[in-house]
Amino acid sequence: MQRREFLMGMGALTLTGWAGAQEQGAALRGPDVIFVPTPNLIVNTMLGLAKVTKKDTVYDLGCGDGRIVITAAQKFGARGVGIDIDPDRVSEATDNVRKACVAYRVKIVRGDLFQANISEATVVTLYLLTDLNLKLRPKLLKELNPGTRIVSHAFSMGDWKPERTEEVDGTNVYLWRIPPRKA
Ligand SMILES: C[S@@+](CC[C@H](N)C(=O)[O-])C[C@H]1O[C@@H](n2cnc3c(N)ncnc32)[C@H](O)[C@@H]1O
Repeated sequence: MQRREFLMGMGALTLTGWAGAQEQGAALRGPDVIFVPTPNLIVNTMLGLAKVTKKDTVYDLGCGDGRIVITAAQKFGARGVGIDIDPDRVSEATDNVRKACVAYRVKIVRGDLFQANISEATVVTLYLLTDLNLKLRPKLLKELNPGTRIVSHAFSMGDWKPERTEEVDGTNVYLWRIPPRKA
């Protein structure tokens, strides 16, 4: 799906161990953005741009059907944590994790990405919207360790300039790195 269709879909929705789904927080609200899957070619580009290895723990914030964390485990040997607020996506992603036989490496959690504990991530993947990226940016900078890579499909971080940008199928994929803490 192209960015224009994605944004049109968004307009229509201006609402607002290592196995199985878990739940974070009690009362969850509706999603900030609808589910639109990242095409597999772009998933591979995102994980490649972040140079994911088996040493990494990849967090997909708004994981949809779980494809990014599943690919991170299957192709790159990484651990994965997928977080989604929509129970249908959580159940779909959990099934997909089981079918892909990566439950020993990938955990799917139901929760709000703005409330989640993301401190153990070494790579964070995003396919949200620019305004959600901007809202998330202070949390990323505060809670992630220096050196953690962040990759975003299609949407930027405003005036935080990416370290790298790659174009694939007419869509940009961006890479940032959490800078060293100031003394
Ligand atoms: C555009 S889809 C991206 C799915 C997946 N990351 C991918 O790239 O294929 C955005 C996902 O974010 C989820 N989402 C939206 N708001 C959220 C929130 N506040 N917390 C957690 N997940 C959220 C939606 O349910 C949806 O599955």
